[in-house]
Amino acid sequence: MTTKQFPQTIKAIQYVDVGGPEVIKMNEIPFPTPQPNEMVIRVLWGGVNFIDTYFRRGIYPLKSLPWTAGSEASGILESLPTDPAVLNDPEFKARNYKVGQLVATGVGPAFAEYVSKPWIKVLSVPDGVDPKIAAAVPVQGLTVLTIIEESYKAKKGDYCLVHAAAGGLGLTFCQLLSARGVHVIGSVSTREKVELAKANGAEFVINYKEEDLIKRVNEITNGEGVHGIYDGVGKSTWAGNFEMIRRKGTIVSIVNASGVIPPISVLELKNKNIHLVRPDNNNYLVTPEEVNQYNTQLWDAVTSGTLKTHIYKEYPFTPQGVAEAQEEQSSGKTTGKLVIKIASS
Ligand SMILES: NC(=O)c1ccc[n+]([C@@H]2O[C@H](COP(=O)([O-])OP(=O)(O)OC[C@H]3O[C@@H](n4cnc5c(N)ncnc54)[C@H](OP(=O)(O)O)[C@@H]3O)[C@@H](O)[C@H]2O)c1
Repeated sequence: MTTKQFPQTIKAIQYVDVGGPEVIKMNEIPFPTPQPNEMVIRVLWGGVNFIDTYFRRGIYPLKSLPWTAGSEASGILESLPTDPAVLNDPEFKARNYKVGQLVATGVGPAFAEYVSKPWIKVLSVPDGVDPKIAAAVPVQGLTVLTIIEESYKAKKGDYCLVHAAAGGLGLTFCQLLSARGVHVIGSVSTREKVELAKANGAEFVINYKEEDLIKRVNEITNGEGVHGIYDGVGKSTWAGNFEMIRRKGTIVSIVNASGVIPPISVLELKNKNIHLVRPDNNNYLVTPEEVNQYNTQLWDAVTSGTLKTHIYKEYPFTPQGVAEAQEEQSSGKTTGKLVIKIASS
C-alpha cells in the first residue's frame, strides 16, 4: 500500500492581528498535524459567517495569533483518526467514514488548503450533495435545527418572528419553521429582501424601514404578540422584542449582528413571564449522539429540498476575497449565504 504524500506547507487565510480587514493575510503554514482523534480534510469550499468578523474584530477572543479564518468548510476526507479507542467506538463506526468521501464541518479554522478536525465535528455528507452547498449549511442549518428544537420548539399554528429574515440564518429559519406549519413573520430592511423571505416560506414580511414593526406584529397577532422570537440582529432589535412577545412567549437571542445587547435585569421578564434563551449552537452539539441526530436532520432537509440554499456570492480564496465577503456581510446588504472557493476538486 502506498502512503499518500501531503505537502509540507499549505496556504491559509489568517488574521495576523485583531482589527479591520487589513489584518487578513495569506500565509504559508505547516501542514496540520492531526491529534489521534482527528481527521484531515482537503478543503474545497468555505462558508462565511457573521462570527468570523466577531473573531477578527476581537468581540470574541482568539486563542492565539496569527489565526486561520473561517468556521465552516466542506472537502475531501484524507485520513482517519489513529486512536484505537476512537476506531472501536460504536458511534464512530456508525458514521462509516471513507477516505475520499465528501465531508463538512461547522467548526473553525476553515479557510486553509487542509484542516484537521476532531472526528466528532466532521459531518458525513450524503452522495449527490454539491460541495458548495455542503460548505454553506453546517453552521446556519445546525444552528436553526437545534434552536427550533431546543431553545424554542415552535409548534404548528404558532406565530414566530424572525429578524433579518433574508439573511443566511433568516432564510433557514423561514424554510424550516414554515415546513412545521408555523406562521412566520419576517423583519427585513429592503423590498428585495421582503420578496426573498416570502419566497422562502415567511407568511408575513415587514420592511422595518417602511413600516412600524411593533404595530404590524401586534396587528397580525390580534394584539397578543408572537409565541417565539428568533433574534439574530441584537442591539437594535432588543428593546422591541419585549413589546412583540406574547405572555409566556420565548425570546431566543442569537445575537450580535447590529452590536452586543446591553445587560438586562431579570425583572424585565416578569411582566409577561417571558422565557429568554441565549444559545450557542456548539453547546447543543457536544455528544456524538447529538451530532448524529442533527446531522441526520440537516442532510435530510437538504436532500429532500426542505432546505434550499440561496447563495449570494462566491468569493476567491484570497485576502481580498475574504475581506470583501466579511465587509459585505457586515454592511447588512447581503442575502442568504456567502461562500469562498478554496479548491476546484
Ligand atoms: N448563536 C449561534 O450559535 C449563532 C450561529 C450562527 C449565527 N449566529 C448569529 O446569527 C446572526 C445572523 O447570522 P448570518 O450569518 O445569517 O448573517 P446575515 O443574516 O446574513 O446578516 C445579518 C443581517 O442582520 C441584519 N442587520 C440589522 N442590523 C444590522 C447591522 N447594524 N449590521 C449588520 N447587519 C444588520 C441585516 O438584515 P436586514 O437588512 O434585513 O435587517 C443583515 O443582512 C448573526 O448575529 C450571527 O452571529 C449565531
